Amino acid sequence: MKTFKLNTGIEIPVIGSGTNTYGKENHDYLAAINNDTTEIRSAINAGYRHFDTAISYRNEAVVAKGIAESGLDRSDFFLTSKLPGEPAYTADEAVVRKGVEQSLKALNTTYIDLYLIHHPWDSLAEMLATWKVLEDHVDKGVLKAIGVSNFNQEQLGHLLTHARIKPAVNQIESHPGKWNDAIIDYSLKEGVIPEAWGPLSRVNDQAKESLTTIGNDYGKTWAQVILRYQVARGVIVIPKSHDKHRQELNLAIFDFNLTDDQQKIIAAL
Ligand SMILES: NC(=O)c1ccc[n+]([C@@H]2O[C@H](COP(=O)([O-])OP(=O)(O)OC[C@H]3O[C@@H](n4cnc5c(N)ncnc54)[C@H](OP(=O)(O)O)[C@@H]3O)[C@@H](O)[C@H]2O)c1
Repeated sequence: MKTFKLNTGIEIPVIGSGTNTYGKENHDYLAAINNDTTEIRSAINAGYRHFDTAISYRNEAVVAKGIAESGLDRSDFFLTSKLPGEPAYTADEAVVRKGVEQSLKALNTTYIDLYLIHHPWDSLAEMLATWKVLEDHVDKGVLKAIGVSNFNQEQLGHLLTHARIKPAVNQIESHPGKWNDAIIDYSLKEGVIPEAWGPLSRVNDQAKESLTTIGNDYGKTWAQVILRYQVARGVIVIPKSHDKHRQELNLAIFDFNLTDDQQKIIAAL
């Protein structure tokens, strides 16, 4: 798997698997956890080694179970999890520490490759205070890299200016219809790797038609064209599928290159 180098020096696989409905009844985000590891195991079999989970998804332990069932080593995987940007996890140093401990325990691991603040809130000072506690975990080797999610330019800029350890990643919504190019460009300029969440969601039929036409040149689907476009411009993607075949398709994007004209068409969708 192709990787990008984070500003910490560690390599991150450019495609990860989203997980936010894995291990849940009816693949419903809000439904009960049923500990079903079918999708995690099929993703691992397809070649995924990077998984994106979060405390809010309640399924960190399901991801860990799937990894354990694979028989592969923990070190073969790149695991991302997220601390909720909510007072229960950010109000003071103790609750931030408790959150990290909760993730470590659920993921059944002694370290997490990438840990993100899941959402910003309305106090730059408080976000910096939470960040400093995460920095301390990096010093101890418990978190290998730390980053943010859904941060705008002002929020990311505040951390870049004041933090001792710069955010390695900014995970944001990005797909046709809502590329969020301004924050992607800003992140790239500052050496913060952008990650696209929801990369295949909310794509309208007209965009799918244009993407399908482009994909036909290479025998690729509209979804593969989106993923290729993002990776080519330096954006990590974390598509999620409950279907083994589509999990495989979402990894098969490295055997074609979009032309400049095609990239321009995609950028305008
Ligand atoms: N940081 C944040 O605030 C945040 C917010 C939302 C999500 N996320 C993360 O981002 C991950 C991905 O986002 P997402 O789960 O919202 O959605 P997504 O990956 O954009 O799209 C998932 C949908 O696309 C379909 N799909 C997947 N591959 C396909 C393909 N090759 N062709 C056609 N359809 C395909 C899936 O259906 P099938 O299952 O039927 O294939 C599913 O309905 C999440 O799982 C989560 O880890 C983060």
